[in-house]
Amino acid sequence: MSEKRFDGRVAVITGAGGGLGFEHARLFASRGAHVVINDIGGSVTGDGSDRGAAQRAADEIIALGGSAVADANSVSTPAGAAELIETALEAFGGVDIVVNNAGILRDKSLLKVKPNDFRAVLDVHLLGTFLVTQAAFGHMRAKGYGRFVNTASPAGLYGNFGQANYSAAKAGIVGLTRTVSIEGAKFGISANAISPAAHTRMTENLLGQLFDGASADVLDAAKVSPVVAWLSHEDTDVTGQVFGTAGGLVTKVFIAETKGIFEANPTIENIAAREAEILDEQGYLVPEDVGASMAPLLEHYASNVGQL
Ligand code: NAI
Repeated sequence: MSEKRFDGRVAVITGAGGGLGFEHARLFASRGAHVVINDIGGSVTGDGSDRGAAQRAADEIIALGGSAVADANSVSTPAGAAELIETALEAFGGVDIVVNNAGILRDKSLLKVKPNDFRAVLDVHLLGTFLVTQAAFGHMRAKGYGRFVNTASPAGLYGNFGQANYSAAKAGIVGLTRTVSIEGAKFGISANAISPAAHTRMTENLLGQLFDGASADVLDAAKVSPVVAWLSHEDTDVTGQVFGTAGGLVTKVFIAETKGIFEANPTIENIAAREAEILDEQGYLVPEDVGASMAPLLEHYASNVGQL
């Protein structure tokens, strides 16, 4: 197997002052990429900031022989996202890879979550991913090449107690990723998402319990980074997908529709009577786009046109 290299590529990684983002940056740099380490240096809840956090991470990578610059902008403002991409252009002359990874938590059960806490979480994860993607997209389009890897979460795919804000933001990132993949396809731009689990400051309490205190080893954040790098490599044209990844397990997550039922004249009663058929997952479909999701209806329409 030949080594996958990123020589000359420029990778922007948001929230890379620590945790998963730092591991991604370290891997990219060790394979020859120039990395832009973005981090606001705040707490897990997004309070406070430390302009030195990104610089310390960049210094560590440089000390390991890598090429890195720091950027302390917040991804959740248009100006911050634009400056981050400017940093990449000024330091390294372009942007080939963007890993949207910055994130915060403000967990509260549904009746307790305040609009401010909802918005703050959406701002960093979802708006931040959008803003940085938009700021980079034009440069990638002009060059005919780009790779986005966005960070979703099992909570966004499956829901999680106390995470109304976070799960909404992470599910939003899945839809955004698929649209960027569709819009980027003809310009050589791919976009995928990961749904990771890793032992970081964000999860040490939660995952520590699940793995009897062994989460730091089992769920080492460095085990997620090769998946991010695979999706960021020029050899890979996988796009529009979501990959589960934790502790060395790598899976594809997909959205499926059951065969369901067709009633030319739906009523509450005839739908309710066929509930089991609607829920039956046998023979499910995995539509790759909106058009494909409409195909079964078009088939029913074609064979029932007389009744409609
Ligand atoms: P972390 O807290 O170590 O990393 C998040 C980083 O984002 C921090 O360094 C923080 O300062 C930075 N950040 C926060 N707001 C920012 C902003 N406005 N602009 C720039 N940087 C900002 O936590 P971790 O676990 O490494 O999380 C990384 C990503 O992975 C997050 O998006 C998180 O939601 C996601 N994730 C993590 C999981 C895990 O098990 N650790 C599970 C699922 C998703």
